[in-house]
Amino acid sequence: MAQDHAAPAQITPVAVRSGIDLQINGESYRHTGDPQMPLLWYLRDVLQLDGTKYAGEHGEGGADLVLVNGKASSAIGVPMSKLSGKKVVTVEGLADAKGALHPLQQAFIDEDAIGCGYCTPGWLIASMDLLNRHKDPSDGDINTLPNLCRCGCQTRVRAAIKRAAAAMKQGAKA
Ligand code: FES
Repeated sequence: MAQDHAAPAQITPVAVRSGIDLQINGESYRHTGDPQMPLLWYLRDVLQLDGTKYAGEHGEGGADLVLVNGKASSAIGVPMSKLSGKKVVTVEGLADAKGALHPLQQAFIDEDAIGCGYCTPGWLIASMDLLNRHKDPSDGDINTLPNLCRCGCQTRVRAAIKRAAAAMKQGAKA
C-alpha cells in the first residue's frame, strides 16, 4: 500500500536576536533592549556601575561623563544605538586590573580634590580626556573642561590635574 508522505514542514529560520555589541571597561557586552536607552541607564541600572552620575537631562556639570573611544562624552546624551563597536571607559575602569589607582585618581586624593564626591567621576573622565590630548595642560586648557563642583573644589582639582600630568610624565620616563 502506498504511503502518504506529508510535505516536509517548512523550515523557518529562527530570528537571530539582534543586539548592540560594545566594550565597557574592557569587557564585552550585548545590549538587546531599547536601542534608545541612554548609556547612563545601561551603566547604572543594567550593569550596576553607578560611579557615573546623573547630571541633568543635558548632562549639565559633567558628572555623567564617560570615555567613548577615548573621548569624554555625556552618558545621558548618547543612546545605546550609537555605541555599536565602541569602547566605553567609566570611572570604574580607570584603575588597573589589579585595582591600583590611576595616577589621576591618586592625585585627586593627594590634593584633597574631593568634597561630597558627586562631581568627581566626571572630573576624572574629563581630565583623562584632557591629559590624553595635552601632556602638560595649562590653566587655560583646564578651564575648557565642562565640569562643575558645588563643593568648591575647582582649585584643588586644578592642582590634582597638574600633579597627575607630572606623575604621568615621570611614569612614561621610568
Ligand atoms: S565634590 Fe561635591 S559637587 Fe564636587
